[in-house]
Amino acid sequence: MTSATFERILVTAALPYANGPLHIGHLAGAYLPADIFVRFQRLRGKPVLFICGSDEHGVPIVLRARKDGVSPQAIVDRFHVQMRDAFAAFGMSFDHFGRTSGAVHADTSQAFFSVLDEKSSFVQKTESQLFDPKAGMFLADRFVRGTCPHCEYDDAYGDQCEKCGRSLSPKDLKNPRSVISDAIPEVRETTHWYLPLGVLQPKLEAWLSHHEDWKVNVLGQVRSWLQEGLGDRAVTRDQSWGVPVPKKSAEKAGIDATGKVLYVWFDAPIGYISFTAEWAQVQGQPDDWKRWWQDPGTRLVQFIGKDNIVFHCLIFPAMLQAHGGFVLPDAVPANEFLNLEGQKLSTSRGWAVWLHEFLEDFPADYLRYSLARILPETKDADFSFTDFQAHINNELADTLGNLINRSLTFAVRYFDGKIPSLEHPSEADSAMLAEIARYPAIVAEHLESFHFREALSEVMALARVGNKYFNDAAPWATRKSDPRACGNTIHVAAQLCACLSILIDPFLPFTAASVRRMLGIDGVSSASGTQATIHWDDAVRPLIEAGQTLGPIEILFHKVQDEQVAKQRAKLDAAMPAAPAPKAAFLPMGDTITYDDFAKLDLRVGRVISCEPVKKSKKLLRCEVDLGFETRQILAGVALHFKPEHLIGRNVIVVANLAPRTMMGLESHGMMLMATDREDRLFALSADAEPGSVVR
Ligand code: 2FM
Ligand code: ZN
Repeated sequence: MTSATFERILVTAALPYANGPLHIGHLAGAYLPADIFVRFQRLRGKPVLFICGSDEHGVPIVLRARKDGVSPQAIVDRFHVQMRDAFAAFGMSFDHFGRTSGAVHADTSQAFFSVLDEKSSFVQKTESQLFDPKAGMFLADRFVRGTCPHCEYDDAYGDQCEKCGRSLSPKDLKNPRSVISDAIPEVRETTHWYLPLGVLQPKLEAWLSHHEDWKVNVLGQVRSWLQEGLGDRAVTRDQSWGVPVPKKSAEKAGIDATGKVLYVWFDAPIGYISFTAEWAQVQGQPDDWKRWWQDPGTRLVQFIGKDNIVFHCLIFPAMLQAHGGFVLPDAVPANEFLNLEGQKLSTSRGWAVWLHEFLEDFPADYLRYSLARILPETKDADFSFTDFQAHINNELADTLGNLINRSLTFAVRYFDGKIPSLEHPSEADSAMLAEIARYPAIVAEHLESFHFREALSEVMALARVGNKYFNDAAPWATRKSDPRACGNTIHVAAQLCACLSILIDPFLPFTAASVRRMLGIDGVSSASGTQATIHWDDAVRPLIEAGQTLGPIEILFHKVQDEQVAKQRAKLDAAMPAAPAPKAAFLPMGDTITYDDFAKLDLRVGRVISCEPVKKSKKLLRCEVDLGFETRQILAGVALHFKPEHLIGRNVIVVANLAPRTMMGLESHGMMLMATDREDRLFALSADAEPGSVVR
């Protein structure tokens, strides 16, 4: 179904975990497509509500907190703000960006759980689970690692194997070990609430049969889960960080609820509802969330990445059906993954482009354009800096920017900044106006069906048609030979710019606003909470009156320079150094010496008391070394390995009776011993003994 058949559209974008910064993979997966869709629908004049927020529970957050030595609350506080701000800078136009650690969310998810519990939608099961005897806790999900039973990968998580992608349960792992204490887990009994998805499967299938039009990648995953048959899913965990299991449910079941919380994948999707309720409160109409979630006139569209398909297409809908009274998703346009420079994105290895950092170097619209151009809509896509540079320079700057800039600067220069009138248009002028009238529907059709790449490519096709029209009309020539024709060209070009300022808006909201400022168009907005008077469909008709005065010309795009690309690459390489070269062989042993040979060496402990580079030498450092009984000047050829401050204050082993040598005009009286490893790294040999001590 399309949006036209509904009264309002509720759009959600997957709630990102608040345990790290956002990267381009997140954007290409769910957020940019969602924002393009929402801005387009707002421009159409449809009532749209765009909900997102941070997912603040779950094991990865607890693990990150342990790693950083802070509380989980401190982690989510930090990343919630960072994500919210980075999203805003990227132009994400959420109506509300909530957080699942808030009070409204706890109440909403507990109430949801209670309804299911009262309807006896859950089953309780007592089962043996892995328990860490050292840490005194059950090891759910990612608290445990071990060998995958399917592919033998020896570092699989308790809930999933990263290598073969299979979902796991901690007890499936061979050789499990606790991530917390490294202890070998014991098996202990614990009771939990389970959602019996098998029982709910027929109802789910009946609903899904109305959605045969979903994307192939989504239906593929859904069908494979259904074919295997859905099983019981635990919706609670033994943990302290999360939404507590409602006391009443625990009492009813006769279970001690202490330390039991809702499973993160149970509470997180309820976040979409609780954040809508928060939004309604902010609007001063606390009950308004019901219209968005319970009135069948709502179309629910949920944007996600492919790793979230099972939760949004099966588990969350099953929860909603079990509860009753809620609308179910009408579309779940999940994207595939984005790779970076030919490799899988990896946050742990630092192989990622971080949103907040990238936006320090480039305007948001550059990234929006380049990502929209390659969205992984049907298969995985690859982001490369070379492509990014080409997209901005050849397409944004040379095609779109050039068309708008040349049209408007011409009007400023030769028409006193006023749009000339259209008088007796030529065939070419009329043909161009007809193209303007044709494109909004073409682009809209692609946007409606979630083909965002195709939509953008049509927008750029219109800009190319416009450039050809401008070139063929050659206003710089007709300005003198046929001023009326010249005026017509600029008039039509301005109408084209106005049309483009609407068609590019979902993709490039900052640029679109800039074009409209130059053209003096008010009344168009795709931002949250604004009322537009000019809509998408108005883009088919001329929007600029003859005589309209232009605003100051703004530069839309700057070309991306090679140095800027090199800087991004260097950043990436620094984050993940190239794989280490295979280790060199050990040096062969030297010739055997006698004890007497050895005894000739007078080895002493010395303390470096000062150290400085030797002028004009790349390698030498001049050290003053306290040998207890005297202070020596020793030159060491280690400047490529150590900075002076690394050596000052350190104890070293000195060959004290080595004949003095002169280097770079300075006398070196002794030698500091260093170990050289197979990678040619140097380590100063040291002893915790007073300077002057004999080394034997
Ligand atoms: O994969 C993720 O990043 C999850 N935090 C998505 C949650 S979406 C939802 F259901 F809340
Ligand atoms: Zn595996």
